[in-house]
Amino acid sequence: MNKIKLLDNINTSDNKNIIDERLHGQFIEFLGECISGGIWVGDDSDIPNYQGLRKEAVDALKEIAPPVLRFPGGCFADTYHWRNGIGAPDKRPVTYNTNFGTMTLEYNQFGTHEFIKFCRLIGAEPWININMLSGTVAEMCEWAEYCNRSEETDLSLERRKNGSPEPFNVEYWGIGNESWAGGGNYTAAAYADEYRKYASAFPRFGNGFSPKEKMIACGPDGNKPQERVKWTKEFFESLKNFRTPPIYGYDLHFYNWNISHKEDTTTSFSKEDWYRVIAGAGELETIIEEQYDLLQEGINSLPPAQFGEKDCKLIVGEWGNWHGKSFEASPALYQQCTMRDAVTTALTLDIFHRQCDKVSMACNAQTVNVLNSLILTEGSKTILTPNYYVFKLYMPHRGARKLDISIESPQLYSGVTDVSAISAFASEKEGLVTLNVVNSSYDEKQHITFDTGLSLSPVDAKQLSGKTPQSYNSFENPDNITIKNISLPEEADGSFSLELPPASITVYQFKIN
Ligand code: AHR
Repeated sequence: MNKIKLLDNINTSDNKNIIDERLHGQFIEFLGECISGGIWVGDDSDIPNYQGLRKEAVDALKEIAPPVLRFPGGCFADTYHWRNGIGAPDKRPVTYNTNFGTMTLEYNQFGTHEFIKFCRLIGAEPWININMLSGTVAEMCEWAEYCNRSEETDLSLERRKNGSPEPFNVEYWGIGNESWAGGGNYTAAAYADEYRKYASAFPRFGNGFSPKEKMIACGPDGNKPQERVKWTKEFFESLKNFRTPPIYGYDLHFYNWNISHKEDTTTSFSKEDWYRVIAGAGELETIIEEQYDLLQEGINSLPPAQFGEKDCKLIVGEWGNWHGKSFEASPALYQQCTMRDAVTTALTLDIFHRQCDKVSMACNAQTVNVLNSLILTEGSKTILTPNYYVFKLYMPHRGARKLDISIESPQLYSGVTDVSAISAFASEKEGLVTLNVVNSSYDEKQHITFDTGLSLSPVDAKQLSGKTPQSYNSFENPDNITIKNISLPEEADGSFSLELPPASITVYQFKIN
């Protein structure tokens, strides 16, 4: 038997532990068919589109309104020259994309204007990652001027000529990507020096001496236990010696690698494979705790801030399941997403929500046709994966306040982390309590009592589950897994009785009486 107990007295005027909506961010890159062929189909395509942007993808993303969208990479960012993606479409240079085995011609039809248009249509704030490796400081400054300058300069007039008189006001700017690997194989100290230069050179828009745009530094490889500690310590060691450049965020990346078991083919896996991958996703929680502590030490060691507070947010700019089979896939890094991916997506969002006092922003890698996708496309066909529905189910947690709960649940597996039968998270917003419960069991339904100690009335119950843990949506059967309304839970003696199918995610909402 599993028990969830609400420990919070729900003081609705309390503003602590608010879940930053930016934890539901997304990431798109010129990789495989994420952008070209996926999001971008071209305005002369037979595939329904909004000025070249795949209509079905836009419509679906608009419904979940990702609060932030990172672009153009990833590793690709360090090869990208933004000027290739502006101006008359038929005059744009044709380049060759070798990113992660993409190996296709890139016609650069989706560039800065198309990215901003996409963001505006789906309701996302753009995050641009600049090219630190094969680009220059001047190139970054000009890209920023082109995007954000309202005064009439040559660059802002060029933007106007290209169809956008109003500045894009891009707020988030990533400086370097995975600079510890493909982004330059830097040492943390060398990267810190490079970061100083780029962040200091960033243009000023509006009033003030400090840029109002938010500069995001490259944090560590979350998958390398020793290196990630060293990277963060050395980065701040190096920064602390002299004046601090503007720094808003520190971008940690973590992938749940599933590459060592050849028989695990993404859609065909055993019970052991199921638990191993779920246990792997749990590792991110201790990494966030560790990196948050190191970040606080680092920030505290910095000299007093020249402008404003000493602060730097922890961000997880890339996360998701990375199955071995995706390396053989065409288009590159394409993965089907089963209920296993939906469960790890839900458990990862639970981690972010639980750690909402430590982590401010996160981007799922990636939104379309690459790795932990929300949307898959094949020619004119577009389908939504179970991962998409997890983001949709979890929307009520955005901007809500985390509630204290206790959970008793049997342990089912011990791996990189322990896996309990159920995991849960609760939040409150505007008089509504949202409780999500994930049943991580491969094959057993779970009975749960939910003790609230308060007068709550259930108003909604929605569930995501498949016939088997291997279930997924295919182009032939696109609605195999969708969100279903289920019966509201029954109350007896101040506690609700919940029953959840194996491999499922359920979200209940209760009105506070
Ligand atoms: O998301 C795929 C790749 O993974 C990104 O390009 C890179 O940043 C990371 O290694």
